Amino acid sequence: EAGQLADRLDLPLYVVGGCVRDLLLGIENLDLDLVVEGDGIAFARKLAAEQLGRVKAHDRFGTAVIVLPDGLKLDVATARTEYYEYPTALPTVEQSSIKKDLYRRDFTINALAVRLNGRGFGEVLDFYGGQRDLKNQAIRVLHSLSFVEDPTRVFRAVRFETRFGFHLGKDTLALAKAAVKMALFQKLSGHRLLEELKALCSEREPKSGLKRLAELDLLRFIHPKLSWTPRLEKLLFAVEETLDWYRLLYLDRKLEAWLVYMMAIAAVLPDRGVTDLLKRFPFSEREATTLKALRGGAHRLLRQLSKQPPLKPSGVCRILEGAQDEALVAIMAQSPSDRVKRLVSAYLTAWRQAVPRLTGKDLQSMGIKPGPIYGTVLTQLRDAHLDGLVKTEAEERAFIEK
Ligand code: CTP
Repeated sequence: EAGQLADRLDLPLYVVGGCVRDLLLGIENLDLDLVVEGDGIAFARKLAAEQLGRVKAHDRFGTAVIVLPDGLKLDVATARTEYYEYPTALPTVEQSSIKKDLYRRDFTINALAVRLNGRGFGEVLDFYGGQRDLKNQAIRVLHSLSFVEDPTRVFRAVRFETRFGFHLGKDTLALAKAAVKMALFQKLSGHRLLEELKALCSEREPKSGLKRLAELDLLRFIHPKLSWTPRLEKLLFAVEETLDWYRLLYLDRKLEAWLVYMMAIAAVLPDRGVTDLLKRFPFSEREATTLKALRGGAHRLLRQLSKQPPLKPSGVCRILEGAQDEALVAIMAQSPSDRVKRLVSAYLTAWRQAVPRLTGKDLQSMGIKPGPIYGTVLTQLRDAHLDGLVKTEAEERAFIEK
């Protein structure tokens, strides 16, 4: 439909970037990036109106986001026609603005476009050797100032290496190393660097990406004391395993895996490490709380959980209640003790869902006046239930009477 609208408006329309790359790799990608040679925002507004979607425009950048009723998201951008070098009459001009638009992008594999309308419909536009690099599994920049213009691209390069098992091209590797020497990353805002770290640590196997950051001497920009050690490697391996386990259990629960990796990183830093990270990066309140739970807290939790005589299930619940799942996974990964792992696992999979059979209504019918006492009674009942002291409803009633 976007193509038809572009036809009616007589505007060349392209799909570009990661979506084209993934299409050629045979990987599903539902984030569509469109580029219009013309007024991108006006085009987005018309398209959204026709498709009953919502639209949000950023006038300053000439971009807009459309969200369609079925949830599909479209990014629409304006090809920067202000860079025209040639009189508009030249036949090459039509392609010149999309060509320029693609030239501003990070890597050749992300600088591919497919025409969605008019003459050349369905054609792949490949000005910079993107298809060759996809075949060669190479990450290459388009020009030598790419990393200077945008240093986060070095992190993006590592992310694409990690995700696709690709490697940096020879010249690109040299340019990345030069960027590291120039320490361009110190000037990056905490916000942008955090976005990159989040993205890297949200990949399926971030461990190899973090190792690659270490090889490129980039870990120190996360924290000056962060380096690749056998301890970190072992911990990341444990995090990977624990996350795999967790995912098998909780397919419908959302866990910020990147935060677990962040906790692993924080765990190998010196004592002030977490404080430093919280200063450098704009974590949300929930993220900060989870990270702080680690400071001293993780060790305390681990100690409490390994207490002798062993804790009863209700005791484990009391200790772990309120902890975010990310923290629990991080604690499991960090714990050297199988017993502790089993306790956290039992808590995650069973104990924390435990509820007594009786409800507030039942308490009322037993003649107990509603009030804060209900919470106390029901918690005690749940604990008794967890610890195997009561099983049937009759036993629960008897427990309350007592
Ligand atoms: N881009 C860029 N430089 C950046 C960030 C993005 O040139 N620092 C360009 C890339 O061409 C990229 C496009 O903007 O293809 C869209 O960015 P993004 O959605 O972050 O990248 P994708 O390639 O779609 O990656 P992903 O699959 O991780 O979403």
